[in-house]
Amino acid sequence: MAQYDVIIIGGGPGGYNAAIRAGQLGLKVACVEKRATLGGTCLNVGCMPSKALLHASELYDAANGEFAKLGIQVQPKLDLVQMMKQKAESVAALTKGIEFLFKKNKVEWVKGAGRIAGPGKVEVTAEDGSVTALEARNIVIATGSEPSPLPGVVVDNNRIVDSTGALSLPEVPKSLVVIGAGIIGLELGSVWRRLGAEVTVVEFLDRITPGMDGETAKTFQRALTKQGMTFKLGSKVTGAKAGKNDVTLTVEPVAGGEPETLKAQYVLLAIGRRPYTDGLGLETVGITPDKRGFIETDHFKTSAPGVWAIGDAIHGPMLAHKAEEDAVACIELIAGKAGHVDYNLVPSVVYTAPEVAWVGKTEEQLKEAGIAYKTGKFPFTANSRAKINHETEGFAKVLADATTDEILGVHIIGPQAGEMIGEYCVAMAFRAASEDIARVCHPHPTRSEAGRQAAMGVEGWTMQA
Ligand code: FAD
Ligand code: NAI
Repeated sequence: MAQYDVIIIGGGPGGYNAAIRAGQLGLKVACVEKRATLGGTCLNVGCMPSKALLHASELYDAANGEFAKLGIQVQPKLDLVQMMKQKAESVAALTKGIEFLFKKNKVEWVKGAGRIAGPGKVEVTAEDGSVTALEARNIVIATGSEPSPLPGVVVDNNRIVDSTGALSLPEVPKSLVVIGAGIIGLELGSVWRRLGAEVTVVEFLDRITPGMDGETAKTFQRALTKQGMTFKLGSKVTGAKAGKNDVTLTVEPVAGGEPETLKAQYVLLAIGRRPYTDGLGLETVGITPDKRGFIETDHFKTSAPGVWAIGDAIHGPMLAHKAEEDAVACIELIAGKAGHVDYNLVPSVVYTAPEVAWVGKTEEQLKEAGIAYKTGKFPFTANSRAKINHETEGFAKVLADATTDEILGVHIIGPQAGEMIGEYCVAMAFRAASEDIARVCHPHPTRSEAGRQAAMGVEGWTMQA
């Protein structure tokens, strides 16, 4: 029977980073993945294909409007087949890249569905039904997550789709109802809105994107509304009936009141994701997931000796870069090193236009924790690069401790916000004060100057505006 130092179940950002790090540290490692390609949700049906469509649709949208303002006259014609093809080609290249990294780092990819069969034992069932038994000193669960279901709304990936279906619609919907104003709903809603769909977003709460700083979320909602998205907040979908050509939805106000009927050509259900541990054999090692399906861990150790868990299957933000951090730290702990993740410094980015990016605490979290803070804020309308590019929507906001000036949270809304937030992740990892950023020379003209001006604003010495 094949013996390993580590067997990782799942080949997504958690699993493949764990496998590669284990290989680098000289551990004998296998990664079990049942999908036909490596890369998990992120590379196959998540981060990568969604960003490919966001990029292409943003350019199409600009060609339909913004280009003319810059003196570029074009009449774009959508070729959806080619747009999907370039997405698929990028995804294929990326998943192949992981295969290459596996070979380079001596990681064995065991193809098939993995099941824990007792302490130190994993059984892998291949597509042809054959079963291989493996043994390992350490098993790492990296099986990820799946879309959460909603009673009364059956995903058929024909008329009623989840995120995977919404990445491959065969046509531009005339109308699309998105259930859930979270990151998936707004990113994929934006894609189809830009390509011509009428998009209505139904959200249970009275705000969009829970978890995002409140002021930023309001600005974000205004921007999306200006682009033509319609929001029905404080509303719940109680049923959806798919016909041949459209879907009829029943929507009720959360606060009570008359239900209404909505019709749409397609519906995207995006109300969150839940851990995926189906058929994993957790019971054979005495692991019981919590009420929401998460595997409970202490520094990635589960309640079963020698069994570890990382990524979307455990608590924390369901993000690829968080899974990657978990992976490296977990393997380093297995190898006797000092693996560590600071979850306060896991940034979030919504890749819409404008982009929204943040790290650390929101104003609401600071208020709730009773922490006194000072705010510096700088609008892109006063940033020269933004003005020159006619991209002045949004702002950068820095929240710093009122006593020590340590940066506690940063919130940026505007083009390239995702690129700008990295500077603040580094600064906060070094426990920088807002003054540390304020006194560092930034290149001119760049949008990063707005980030610096926001830091200067904490002490009230913003130069422009
Ligand atoms: P996954 O990527 O889900 O990988 C788990 C893998 O395990 C899967 O390949 C699965 O087939 C395999 N598996 C499961 N059970 C078994 C088994 N028993 N045997 C063998 N294999 C098994 N995050 C970001 O940070 N940025 C983004 O821009 C972003 N965009 C997203 C867009 C969409 C549409 C979606 C759905 C998600 C997005 N995410 C994004 C979230 C990101 O994809 C996840 O957080 C990330 O993939 C989690 O990594 P993971 O390794 O924990 O799990
Ligand atoms: P989400 O948790 O971001 O948002 C779900 C939304 O649905 C919330 O606003 C919630 O209040 C709402 N909701 C819940 N039940 C509802 C109901 N019955 N009716 C109406 N609204 C309801 O989840 P989402 O968008 O599905 O994304 C899942 C995860 O995927 C995210 O949490 C994120 O971690 C990850 N992701 C990250 C991306 C990125 O980093 N750019 C992109 C896409 C996904």
